[in-house]
Amino acid sequence: MCGIVGYVGPQDARDVVLEGLRRLEYRGYDSAGIAVLADGELTTAKKAGKLANLEKVLAERPLPAATTAIGHTRWATHGGPTDRNAHPHVSADGRVAVVHNGIIENFAVLRAECERAGIEFTSETDTEVAGHLLAAAYAEAPEGEGRLAEAMRAVCRRLEGAFTLVATHAAEPGTLVAARRSSPLVVGIGETADGTPEYFLGSDVAAFIGHTRNALELGQDQVVEIDRTRGVTVTDFSGRSVEPTAYTVDWDAAAAEKGGYDWFMLKEIAEQPQAIADTLLGRLGEHGNLVLDEVRLSDQELRDIDKIFVVSCGTSYHAGLIAKYAIEHWTRIPVEVEVASEFRYRDPVLDRSTLVIVISQSGETMDTLMALRHAKEQKARVLAICNANGSTIPRESDAVLYTHAGPEIAVASTKAFLSQIVACYLVGLFLAQVRGMKFEDEIAAIVDDLRKLPDAVARVLESMDEVRALGRSLADAGTVLFLGRHVGFPVALEGALKLKELAYIHAEGFAAGELKHGPIAVIDQGTPVVVIVPSPRSRESVHGKVVSNIQEVRARGARTIVIAEDGDQDVVPYADHLIRVPRTPTLLAPVVTTVPLQVLACEIADTRGYDVDQPRNLAKS
Ligand code: BG6
Repeated sequence: MCGIVGYVGPQDARDVVLEGLRRLEYRGYDSAGIAVLADGELTTAKKAGKLANLEKVLAERPLPAATTAIGHTRWATHGGPTDRNAHPHVSADGRVAVVHNGIIENFAVLRAECERAGIEFTSETDTEVAGHLLAAAYAEAPEGEGRLAEAMRAVCRRLEGAFTLVATHAAEPGTLVAARRSSPLVVGIGETADGTPEYFLGSDVAAFIGHTRNALELGQDQVVEIDRTRGVTVTDFSGRSVEPTAYTVDWDAAAAEKGGYDWFMLKEIAEQPQAIADTLLGRLGEHGNLVLDEVRLSDQELRDIDKIFVVSCGTSYHAGLIAKYAIEHWTRIPVEVEVASEFRYRDPVLDRSTLVIVISQSGETMDTLMALRHAKEQKARVLAICNANGSTIPRESDAVLYTHAGPEIAVASTKAFLSQIVACYLVGLFLAQVRGMKFEDEIAAIVDDLRKLPDAVARVLESMDEVRALGRSLADAGTVLFLGRHVGFPVALEGALKLKELAYIHAEGFAAGELKHGPIAVIDQGTPVVVIVPSPRSRESVHGKVVSNIQEVRARGARTIVIAEDGDQDVVPYADHLIRVPRTPTLLAPVVTTVPLQVLACEIADTRGYDVDQPRNLAKS
């Protein structure tokens, strides 16, 4: 995961890179480091822990001013989160500095080779080997322009695994070279007020959004050289020239800032009505039909689908679980939902008439990417639902539906999740439309309901004071259970995940009907149990059964926290705490019932004194 920044240009590269690292810290905060190239010398500073630790080091021992620098914020894989293992790593001759995101799978073999050549390693990372190999390859590369890029290509041809590498060489002022394989990297191209060109590298555009919106997408297995005089040159690993795709970033710098909120997560929760509206924008036709022109699958291909898999990780997986209910109901196509890390290992049955929907906020989650590639190898059609433009997953998919939620910085996903659910509704309804599974007026009625979702979420957000007070009162809870039926079940899973990842409280989500088959045993006097109640207008039996479940847990001493729609009186006698949400059609209800659970987890974590945006042990792809 890790965040990478590089800069070449007239500004003070130290400041530009540190600013970029601040924006990328959500990608990892086990350590941070920076290397600057000034007067033919490389100087590095690095420190375990959050970026603030590095900033303290720099305040005491400033680096020399420079116009070329690279930086890194780490999520540890090989080697613990120590100063020694922090990036950048410098080659034994002190001439090459390198930062890395990903895992070099054959590093042990390469390390042994370097050690046989007399190189002493100073860290336990897989990355360090890349620095030493680069120094050796540079020595052998022909002198002249492009020498460092040639060295990088030679090294990349030997590396296995996934990696983004950015390197600088003491003999090459004004030049940075980077490479990517199955790990993200974007190039930013800007100019200062006086028209001087400047170049940026970043794991994502947040790294340089304060300076430029002009970006270049890099493909798989490509090497890019950015040079103050020669500009940008892209090749593949064999040296063949490649024309990169230019695009304009549609996020602005303010969107990547906290905007007055204590936490990015709070800001992102508040942005949910807008995120949903933006995801719907331009996709709901004036006659109540769906317009998904960007889905590059022909009507015939969509009609031929006989099975759907939804594949994703974490919160995005929960969006997939919700998608199953809607897509099966509207299209009658069987849908299986699977965590991406399991998908390719169990040899799922896929063929040309299978649609695989991959859902990913970042578009870079490795397990999801690998699942996508597996699906394509098996000739399935792949549709990506993704938030990050220009990322790998949409690029490698047959079709893409972007969620337009804007940058999501907090590690725990909120607005991306709601917009993923909405995007899944759009896909399901579009399939129903193309395949003629619903009458036009039926589709128009659901489209009308979708249009109301941003307002419904805004109304939930207006009434969160009591949820916050409740959160403060739950800060010492040992275990919290979440129960739901039908679409309320994935919402329960998401509520439990949010509490675990933010507040480090043991939490579990269950299908409420499973309660009596085991989980009910953990309920003790005062155990908080959050119940997501379906609308009384859903299937009568489902609502009634959930109301019975509330009574069952309460009878065993549970403190019941009930999320129910406005006007549902049946739950009132059994709710110790009642959280109201607006009346919403059954299948769309997760978009509103999830919101109080996000606020609750955020408040509990804050009360417990934890870093809400950067929970321990986690990072964003
Ligand atoms: C995890 C994040 O690492 O990745 C979750 O903590 C996220 O918030 C999951 O849902 C999947 O990420 P993505 O980018 O593929 O949706």
